Amino acid sequence: MLMVPGPVEVHPRVLRAMSQPMIGHLDPDFVSLLDEILDMLRRVFQTRGDVIILTGSGTSAMEAAVGNVIERGDKVLSVVSGLFGRRFAEIARRRGAEVHEMKFPLGSSADPSKIKEELESGEYKALTVVHCETSTGALNPIEEIAKACRDEGVISIVDGITSVGGIDVRTEEWGIDLLVVGSQKCLAAPPGLAMLSVSERAWECIENRKEELPDYYLDLLRNKGYMVDRLSPRRTPFTPGVPALLGLYEALKLIEEEGLENRFERHRIIGEGMRESIKAIGLELFPEEGAYSNTLTSFKVPEGIEDKELRGRMKEKYGVIVAGGLEELTGKIVRIGHMGISAVPQNVFATVSALECALHEMGFKLELGSGISALEDVFLRNNL
Ligand SMILES: Cc1ncc(COP(=O)(O)O)c(C=O)c1O
Repeated sequence: MLMVPGPVEVHPRVLRAMSQPMIGHLDPDFVSLLDEILDMLRRVFQTRGDVIILTGSGTSAMEAAVGNVIERGDKVLSVVSGLFGRRFAEIARRRGAEVHEMKFPLGSSADPSKIKEELESGEYKALTVVHCETSTGALNPIEEIAKACRDEGVISIVDGITSVGGIDVRTEEWGIDLLVVGSQKCLAAPPGLAMLSVSERAWECIENRKEELPDYYLDLLRNKGYMVDRLSPRRTPFTPGVPALLGLYEALKLIEEEGLENRFERHRIIGEGMRESIKAIGLELFPEEGAYSNTLTSFKVPEGIEDKELRGRMKEKYGVIVAGGLEELTGKIVRIGHMGISAVPQNVFATVSALECALHEMGFKLELGSGISALEDVFLRNNL
């Protein structure tokens, strides 16, 4: 059972869709499917604006978003509270931007008032920020940050890779300029596709570049020409990952059948259940109180327990795969993903049970069943 924070398990319908005979990307049947995918994505992004699909992992869309907006010498404010925030800053720096990293402690939420204050200097062209910092399990207040950007005329570039499809993100209402999403997280589609929405303001900024864009594949205007401006049929400018798109189409249909609101509520209850069970077992959550994301749960590896052995036992004996910490948090935290179709009671019951058993075997003092009981309480209280 795959319970890492992406890629996540995909529904059998998605697997079946990917095993269809190969189809050409210019075939009318495929083109009309792509047309439908683009409309479905707008609904998931909660925008009437433009959405572009790239064949590439989430990072390709982070690079496209930053690269198309930024020119050499531009000032960028990068909000950094973990590995993925730092990645955005690094991408901007490599594009020749003058990057100011505004750092917040690992596991905390960024303070929007500090960000607003910094943006008021009037020097910044763009801001980068990660919504759900998957390396820590903490969430940043995107609505407030996007508003501060709008107020100050700064382009907001947001990584919603582990939030969109699991947590409410209102691209248009909140005025997010560029929002990046990966297929393999809360959308529960196969890995290999990245999507991003682009606001009118962002298009204006891209169209008015002084320097020629060095990118060809990641040229968003080129992609727009095929995926947005063509009336019919819309298509991709290059050969896309066809099987991944067939899988994405089915995954999006599953989202529409469930309804976005129901999906957010399911993730909320599962997130609460996971946190309550971790606390009941006697473990300590890693993010600060109130900073928690509902799409993954991270906890501190307790004294005397070796992280690799814990995760190894969970996988080998109990068949549940969870993730460890990254970079400076290696060996210090465990991260459990509950996104898409993995955010369901049967998966989290199995995960918590495996965690309890593995910890018990390793000599950690806990009351067996305490985590399961906490899950039951949350599910029954919330009428899941
Ligand atoms: C928040 C966040 N941003 C970016 C990425 C990078 O995505 P990819 O590995 O698809 O390039 C990840 C992957 O875990 C992520 O969680």
